[in-house]
Amino acid sequence: MDGQLRVGVLISGRGSNLQALLDACADPDFPARIVCVLSNNADAFGLQRAADAGVPTTVVSHKDYPNRKTFDAAVNDALGKFDVEFLCLAGFMRILDGQFVARWRDRMINIHPSLLPSFPGLDTHQRALDMGVKVAGCTVHFVRADADTGPIIAQAAVPLLPDDDAETLAARILVEEHDIYPRALRLCAEGRVSMKGDRAIIDA
Ligand code: GRF
Repeated sequence: MDGQLRVGVLISGRGSNLQALLDACADPDFPARIVCVLSNNADAFGLQRAADAGVPTTVVSHKDYPNRKTFDAAVNDALGKFDVEFLCLAGFMRILDGQFVARWRDRMINIHPSLLPSFPGLDTHQRALDMGVKVAGCTVHFVRADADTGPIIAQAAVPLLPDDDAETLAARILVEEHDIYPRALRLCAEGRVSMKGDRAIIDA
């Protein structure tokens, strides 16, 4: 397909969401393709997934840079080599600085394992269990300067079951993550997401 959105995926670890995106992009009719996978961690299993799919990988270790600004600049330079137009954060465990976020405003999305705005940050599954919520889930959203905030593109909900622990809940939510992330990317790539104030409106 011509005119596919050129996507970079940023990861830090296992890369199961990356895999869902790679699988979606394997369909030649999918409106986006992954042109590079960048990790801040050379040992991330997701790098292997990308290599297996024939996607170029690059490692920019935050340990090689004195601060967030210089690390982010190096990430940006690395992405520039692949003509990346759009970014997907998929388990990328670094907070990006305001300048980077501004540069990629409305062109960078993230997946988070909670129904935002509830439970931003880490340890979401245990916190949901501790609060006794009855429904949990996941969210794909545009990235803004504050972590885990930004216009929401897609969400999926799962019920909490009586015997759930953080692991079983996380596993059930992850199945939904793998469903909504490619769907959200498709919506963006097809130009079906517009901004109204700070809300994302979906042309379904
Ligand atoms: C996912 O739960 C995602 O929502 C969160 O980090 C986890 C990454 O998992 N941001 P994976 O690396 O995609 O398997």
